[in-house]
Amino acid sequence: METVRILDRQFRLYLSESEIQSRIHTIAQQMSKELEGKNPLFVAVLNGAFVFAADLLREMTTPTEISFIKIASYQGTTSTGNVSDIIGLNEDLSGRTVVIVEDIIDSGLSMTHLINSLRRLNPAEIKICALLVKPGNLKVDLDIPYCCFRIPNDFIVGYGLDYDRYGRGLRDIYVVEE
Ligand code: IMP
Ligand code: MG
Repeated sequence: METVRILDRQFRLYLSESEIQSRIHTIAQQMSKELEGKNPLFVAVLNGAFVFAADLLREMTTPTEISFIKIASYQGTTSTGNVSDIIGLNEDLSGRTVVIVEDIIDSGLSMTHLINSLRRLNPAEIKICALLVKPGNLKVDLDIPYCCFRIPNDFIVGYGLDYDRYGRGLRDIYVVEE
């Protein structure tokens, strides 16, 4: 499909299923090599990362665990500012190599809050793996060792990502048409 309509918006094909799969294969090979013997734990962020996490995990060639979390964000009134509650994490992270698996990093604020929350659980290290990054929108300094695609600041949908809750099941990634 070259274009799709979701609710009131028209979207056009941006990254095909085969481009996505090929890039994930390459990233998973790199991660498998670099994380070999570390028994990494993927912490995949719902909802958006569910498709990416499934494909990424199946391309890993070193033993890898996975856990899915949800974030309940609210504005904290403490001196630490914004805080995130992590829902669904039952694993003991102490001493582990944790890889946060995210669909997209836009301003980077959600990721920063998540890292701060996970740090309190004393992992040995935390690495970021993102399907998509919008470098032009980043408001914080983030080290993103594993990024599949750097994209412009346009709104995208598909492959797990939604537009107002729709479009997550699309096999390709689409960008909004102005
Ligand atoms: P950040 O805190 O600004 O990095 O926000 C990241 C979150 O915003 C992602 O987890 C998505 O839920 C959402 N988001 C940002 N850009 C897009 C997009 O282009 N399409 C769909 N969701 C997006
Ligand atoms: Mg997300």
